[in-house]
Amino acid sequence: MSDSGQSIGIISVGAAVPERVLTNADLERMVETSDEWIRTRTGVRERRIKAEGEASSDYGALAAQKALAKAGLEAKDIDLIICATFSPDEYCPSTACRIQHKLGADGIGAFDLNAACTGFVYALTVAKHMIAGGIAKRVLVVGVDMCSSIVDYQDRGTCVLFGDAAGAAVVGPVSKGRGILGEFLGADGSAGDWIWIPAGGSRKPASAQTVANREHYLKMNGNEVFRFAVRVLGESVDRALAKTGYTIEDLDLIAPHQANIRIIEAAARRFGLPMERVLCNIERYGNTSAATIPLVLAEAEEEGKLVEDHLVALVAFGGGMTWGSVIVRWGK
Ligand code: ACO
Repeated sequence: MSDSGQSIGIISVGAAVPERVLTNADLERMVETSDEWIRTRTGVRERRIKAEGEASSDYGALAAQKALAKAGLEAKDIDLIICATFSPDEYCPSTACRIQHKLGADGIGAFDLNAACTGFVYALTVAKHMIAGGIAKRVLVVGVDMCSSIVDYQDRGTCVLFGDAAGAAVVGPVSKGRGILGEFLGADGSAGDWIWIPAGGSRKPASAQTVANREHYLKMNGNEVFRFAVRVLGESVDRALAKTGYTIEDLDLIAPHQANIRIIEAAARRFGLPMERVLCNIERYGNTSAATIPLVLAEAEEEGKLVEDHLVALVAFGGGMTWGSVIVRWGK
């Protein structure tokens, strides 16, 4: 809610994924792995992969157009774009600026935010407070990652997990009682190397050596990340709920970051929630980083699982390490 008492929330969501499907059988031909290992250890059966030459802004703009159409709005009705991504089109300009131009919204504010897989939760929180602070009236929040552009398809510990997708939300004024009721953001830079890309930044710019060493690809300490994720998912929802007066039992649904089905199931057990109340589509898309939450929300709405007045907890964790949760009373 803003100082003026106006409720602020998600007016609409949209998503876009590439057509090409990369199955576990395809991966069996690329690295030493098996469909059985990937399914039982991660829950992923297939993921989408962009075509050569495509970029994050292409899918970010598509998802944004769908969200705008669903809301009955046009690009001119938006006055700020925040794009959460850790796989931008290029380092400069921002992917938000690329999306802005594709939408024909030139002139409005636009910037990227990098909180890796927690990006959408971070961007949603920033958007709400930009509106509450009077900086903007309606904000387009895009979560997009083309993980295939930074994943090493020779590293079986990471390449089986990730996919490409985009999701977008129009954030703005909603009816009283609906919208974002509470939020919590966390980060711990001491664990920065658990998910990282060693080269290509200011410390180690691209060189023939960094390319030869495969240092432009994402490296991950899977076991540490797994334990961390189960802990912070629960803590994040508790901290965000504490600001709302509601408890876990009041939640109709949880929309968790889709990183590994075992992480999601462990978190659900911790909450004491049955899996029917946990939104999940990791089987078909894998981990699409900043896109997983808007993608699972858009699908759940289309399938009629997510309806007006549902109390939903969005919760994510990712590189940084970062984590956070937003509690939403769904509907505009
Ligand atoms: N196929 C077959 N075997 C494999 C594969 C594979 N794709 N990957 C690893 N293995 C092997 C390992 O080498 C190991 O073999 P060993 O026992 O001979 O050494 C064995 O399987 C077990 O390895 P573990 O790492 O213990 O397997 P685990 O069950 O922990 O699963 C995984 C690994 C899937 C990476 C898991 O740890 C995980 O999901 N971690 C969290 C990852 C995550 O959530 N990342 C989020 C990123 S968010 C962001 O910001 C990008």
